[in-house]
Amino acid sequence: MSENVKIELLPLGKSLEVGRGAPLQDLLFAHGVEFPCGGRGRCKGCKVKVLAGTLPITVEDRKKLTSTELADGWRLACRSRAEGDLQLELAQWEATILTDDTVFDFTPQDGLGVAVDLGTTTIVAQLLDLRTGHVLAVRTALNSQAQHGADIMSRVEFAVAGGGQAQLERLIREQVGELVQELLGVNAAPRRRARHSVRAAIPQANDGAHGVTRPTGAADLKHIVLVGNTVMHNLFCGASVEPLSHYPFEPKDDGLQVFSVEELGWQVLPATLAADATRRIPSASSPLRLLTSAATQVRFLPCLGGFVGSDILAGILATRMHESKDLVTLIDLGTNGEIVVGNRERMLCASTAAGPAFEGARIWMGMRAATGAISEVHIADVGLRCHVLGNAAPRGICGSGLVDAVACALELGWVKPNGRLANGSDFTLAGPVRISQTDIRELQLAKGAIAAGLEVLLRQWGSTRDDMARVYLAGAFGNYINLTSARRIGLLDFPADNIQPAGNTALLGAKLALFGLREHDADYPDLRRKISHVSLHEDPQFQETYVEQMTFP
Ligand code: FES
Repeated sequence: MSENVKIELLPLGKSLEVGRGAPLQDLLFAHGVEFPCGGRGRCKGCKVKVLAGTLPITVEDRKKLTSTELADGWRLACRSRAEGDLQLELAQWEATILTDDTVFDFTPQDGLGVAVDLGTTTIVAQLLDLRTGHVLAVRTALNSQAQHGADIMSRVEFAVAGGGQAQLERLIREQVGELVQELLGVNAAPRRRARHSVRAAIPQANDGAHGVTRPTGAADLKHIVLVGNTVMHNLFCGASVEPLSHYPFEPKDDGLQVFSVEELGWQVLPATLAADATRRIPSASSPLRLLTSAATQVRFLPCLGGFVGSDILAGILATRMHESKDLVTLIDLGTNGEIVVGNRERMLCASTAAGPAFEGARIWMGMRAATGAISEVHIADVGLRCHVLGNAAPRGICGSGLVDAVACALELGWVKPNGRLANGSDFTLAGPVRISQTDIRELQLAKGAIAAGLEVLLRQWGSTRDDMARVYLAGAFGNYINLTSARRIGLLDFPADNIQPAGNTALLGAKLALFGLREHDADYPDLRRKISHVSLHEDPQFQETYVEQMTFP
């Protein structure tokens, strides 16, 4: 019998030859499949459909999948091994990752810099010419730690209870190093297409392959700035995440961290090779070696307290709310929603556990914003009209579609203000995709957490929504959500003209930090002194406000 088996992945159209008995989790993760519960067989987020070949039904398959799903060939990838040739349909397909091409003012510096937005799910890295401000290359990837859990608490659980802290640290340091290596390779070699789809195309004028003068050599890399949430900060920097696993959820060490490339285990390519800017670097699978200088400094910006990380500090820099004389708000909508309220005098920040509904998770037919996902829902002459990503048949619903669907259902009277379905049964959107009572409940929990967090911050600030001059929405979900629907469900109770999607503010803020290193070394003591972290659970009115905010207007 052959030692290898062939696996075909649909609809990606990829064929792999792998060793017999290889775990599917390892194979599929490399192709963008996420394992939301870390491969523990608890969530069924990793299910794949066997189109040809055989995958035996496991105990976990029987627990998590219905008899119809089992009969249709669905299996949990995380519990399966490739024992024979297979043709598999992936329930998750490639996702789009939000990057940034904002034009901004800067003071020219020497050399190159890399800005990294290290997210729980995705990573975006950009290489910049610090003399011209041009973006020379972009790389995006799914966070390689995601094979050990989709959200930050799953990572913390794996790190603490599973003893995986060192493994997560190694994974993310290696991956960021590889992305930096790829960026420098792109700069040194003819341009290649980005590995993942990039929503904001790099303007031609920014492209090193289109006439912009590059610095003299790839060894010019001077600075790397990373931003991310507190868990990503701690895992990358080698600080224990154990304090984040229990009350009061305060990290032990979340300040500015500065590393040399050697401290991160990244080897510097010899000067003779580094000077040759046209030479291709070794492949990412070879020992990690960087076309860079031993003097390159890697900074992970400081967090703001609790689960509010440096991605939010970067968001403040990007939106310039620290310079605003008017009251403004920054909201990053996600599994962990982060909120900042304030102006140039003082700011309050908090994080609130919104749950995964905005990302399409824990929703009956929920999925990421990928091909086949219903991303928009509108009221039509008869019933509802749905927009499906990728012009494909509908197979699920993502967060923006869910917000739209419930907003429409409220308008049509299908859902009552208390969240109950008016006629007691699910309603259909398109094809097999339906919204259940549990889905509405999940959305109520998510929107209630954000709205209550905002309410508490405003109260502690001594202000009201009427005083708010602007609300910035950070991140991918904030970029795609329909603002009318968000207002209809009571998630953003502000005039539409005051709400502004702000894109990937974390990446933009990291880039701004690259250009400001001379003045403040990225510690931002003056700015951080103006920001106070609020622990929402310690606010005596938070729970009551949360329950109030769960109802729909
Ligand atoms: S069941 Fe959760 S990742 Fe497989």
